[in-house]
Amino acid sequence: MSELSTQTASPKAKYRADYIKPDYTITDIDFEFDLYDTATHIVAVSKVVRQVETDAALVLNGDGLELVRVEVNGTAWSDYDVSESSLTLRSLPASFDLTIETLVNPEANTLLEGLYKSGGGFCTQCEAEGFRRITFYLDRPDVLARFTTKVIADKTSFPYLLSNGNRVAEGDLDNGRHWVQWQDPFPKPSYLFALVAGDFDVLRDKFKTMSGRDVELEIFVDKGNLDRADYAMASLINSMKWDEERFGLEYDLDIYMIVAVDFFNMGAMENKGLNVFNSKFVLANSKTATDTDYQGIEAVIGHEYFHNWTGNRVTCRDWFQLSLKEGLTVFRDQEFSSDLGSRAVNRIQNVRIMRGPQFAEDRGPMSHPIRPEKVIEMNNFYTLTVYEKGSEVIRMMHTLLGEEKFQAGIKLYFERHDGTAATCDDFAQAMEDASGVDLTLFRRWYSQAGTPVVTVTTDYNAEQKRYLVTIEQNTAPTAGQDDKLPLHIPMDIELYDSVGHVIALECNGEPIHHVLNVTEAKQVFEFDNVNEKPVISLFREFSAPVVLEYGYSDEELVFLMVHARNEFARWDAGQMLLAKYIRTNIANVQQGKDVELPESVIDAFRGALLDENLDPAFIAEMLALPSENEIAGWYKIVDVDAINAVAGKISAILAYALEDELTAIYRSLSQGEYNLAHEAMAKRALRNRCLSYLAHTEEGNKLVAEQYVSSDNMTDTMASMAAANNAELPCRAEQMTDFSDKWTHDGLVMDKWFMLQGANPAADSLANVRKTMSHPAFDLKNPNRTRNLVASFCANNPVRFHAKDGSGYAFLTEILTALNASNPQVASRLIEPFLKYRVYDEQRQALMRAELEKLAKLENLANDLFEKVQKALDQ
Ligand code: TRP
Ligand code: ZN
Repeated sequence: MSELSTQTASPKAKYRADYIKPDYTITDIDFEFDLYDTATHIVAVSKVVRQVETDAALVLNGDGLELVRVEVNGTAWSDYDVSESSLTLRSLPASFDLTIETLVNPEANTLLEGLYKSGGGFCTQCEAEGFRRITFYLDRPDVLARFTTKVIADKTSFPYLLSNGNRVAEGDLDNGRHWVQWQDPFPKPSYLFALVAGDFDVLRDKFKTMSGRDVELEIFVDKGNLDRADYAMASLINSMKWDEERFGLEYDLDIYMIVAVDFFNMGAMENKGLNVFNSKFVLANSKTATDTDYQGIEAVIGHEYFHNWTGNRVTCRDWFQLSLKEGLTVFRDQEFSSDLGSRAVNRIQNVRIMRGPQFAEDRGPMSHPIRPEKVIEMNNFYTLTVYEKGSEVIRMMHTLLGEEKFQAGIKLYFERHDGTAATCDDFAQAMEDASGVDLTLFRRWYSQAGTPVVTVTTDYNAEQKRYLVTIEQNTAPTAGQDDKLPLHIPMDIELYDSVGHVIALECNGEPIHHVLNVTEAKQVFEFDNVNEKPVISLFREFSAPVVLEYGYSDEELVFLMVHARNEFARWDAGQMLLAKYIRTNIANVQQGKDVELPESVIDAFRGALLDENLDPAFIAEMLALPSENEIAGWYKIVDVDAINAVAGKISAILAYALEDELTAIYRSLSQGEYNLAHEAMAKRALRNRCLSYLAHTEEGNKLVAEQYVSSDNMTDTMASMAAANNAELPCRAEQMTDFSDKWTHDGLVMDKWFMLQGANPAADSLANVRKTMSHPAFDLKNPNRTRNLVASFCANNPVRFHAKDGSGYAFLTEILTALNASNPQVASRLIEPFLKYRVYDEQRQALMRAELEKLAKLENLANDLFEKVQKALDQ
């Protein structure tokens, strides 16, 4: 039996427009798993009900399964056909019990979909279409069944046997095995099924819900890791409380379990009552995890918990509706993190993801609307567009409706759709009906791909005291979608007078709301009673996922950096100022000139650095340059070397010009005992930002080496190592050896080291990456290890990956070829840098295209890669 479904012809695409209800549904399923490493028998007894008049065949999905037996109402059934991907049954009664026994090999399952072994334990991953690798089933999210699951395994090796819902029975068998039976009272689609068996340490706690029910909380971690689960537990409790307070949503089962596993394709999975997590998003203590890791844990724990309502209680009708649960749940986890921590810093970090990788996705061959129209491999659509842009679309509704009406919309959505599988349209309709806000045009965000460019011009008439704001929107054609229409864009603005006071918005004596409704290709907004030429703040809070074009002067940007009322706008002005000089300098470098920054720009950043009224975490963001990838996105033809040179030199110019201030602040922020309060994290963020600049100066870089030696926590350790790595300091080599000696036994911690190896700017970086692959902690079959080393080199080290000799490209093809066979889902993430070959010079384009053509010819090319390679070659 081969692991991958053998591919005879080109895989077939599915279209959103082709949705039809299933001919049959399944109301109940009774499972029995007899777990063995290489041969697990699974018996599923399903209650099947026909939903159409005619006696249609029942076509069940399957993948990589061995069929052992089929029974209908308890007797052997022979009127069926079985193929690699389906089981078709004929001559069936209108309703019946269907028994199917399958045999699978969890140990050989390197895809990490379906039932597999991670470390010593068993676990499952079913979203999107992994359930069909467990049993033949109607594996689609609009079939909701009540699950009962009996798990049988060896008692010594697998003392914990877990599944969804409540534990209803258990017992011992005489052969050293034992069993537990679980029952989930909530009907659910197959993708939310989960099973775990293993030996763990368990962290337990309790939560009392707002209506007074007690919930048992359990976090299962590998033995020896109990001291790394506290933050995840605290985050879970915070999530449960927050969802009650902000959304009025309460947990619905008596137990909530989280299992941390080392082998996992994505971040985490919201299986009902039994979340399975990548251990990266559970395990942390001050010695092993950075502040960024802690923030990730809080966000992902929140995200999966919030899915219990937005995803599980109301699920998706079909996979084209994925953003219904993901966009909304990302919005909820972003709000959670913002309510608990710094709203401004969270917003800035999320906007960076939009402007960098999401905008890049919108420009590339895989570009799709947040609700895709055509899919070959569903795993390819768990994207920044569906998740992050999907969240921005929900956020725009929130901006248009306001919190109160938005919450009324949520309430109506649950009244209408609780316990069912819904669509994105259902959500928009509930928002519209509950608020009275017309969302007809707004719905276009669900169907139109691409990033709109909004060009603004302003005109002030001193005599009439009138200010005109002219807005034009345009969305460039995207892959497979040539014609674009105007969108409903909420544009949040503010006007300032010359001393920084806010000017009231009005026209003809009527007040105007600060969120303008831009709905046409070209529109003019008029403001009167404006006594002097104002400075305008545009798209405050990034009120829409668009590119803004406005001819700000340096003076206006420096003014906004100081005077804008909200922190986001101040940061954004700083970014626009930097962007201007990054562009100018790239042009200069291309003409062989030097990199320069005017004194006024340096002063603006000095001002931000020294502003004692600002949150240090916010100052750290103010001082961060856009990433090289974000800068690359501004160009039709990308010059990776010039971008890298300019980014490096601007950092060095700022470092030398501000050396005294950076050093003084660095020293003044030196810490007492490590703790996780926002204030302490904020200070570390700014201190380590200072360090990253100081790494460029002769005096300052000594601090980098000192910090590594004196650090008592991973945040400061990593900051020192990253600074040494980026600036290629002599202390780097010693640090890397010391770190690897200390942590080789711990893959999760070593991921940080692998990431640095991948990002190493040294000329021999690729040779070093290749050598690193034989480090004892490296394992190409572990997605975390692979991502940290390979993606950090291929996606985040542009100068070395895009080496003119094509060596970086050849390396990626080798990795993709290996992963195509063992784990195509991970391969499909790593291939991304190849998809954008069109934006490089001709020589690099040709080299990358040749690699894509090689991949296209691979025998048994998996659907995941097939879809991307084909789209890339077609562009
Ligand atoms: N639903 C998960 C989430 O966003 C993500 C997910 C989709 C996933 N497919 C997966 C996780 C496969 C792991 C493996 O929370
Ligand atoms: Zn999710």
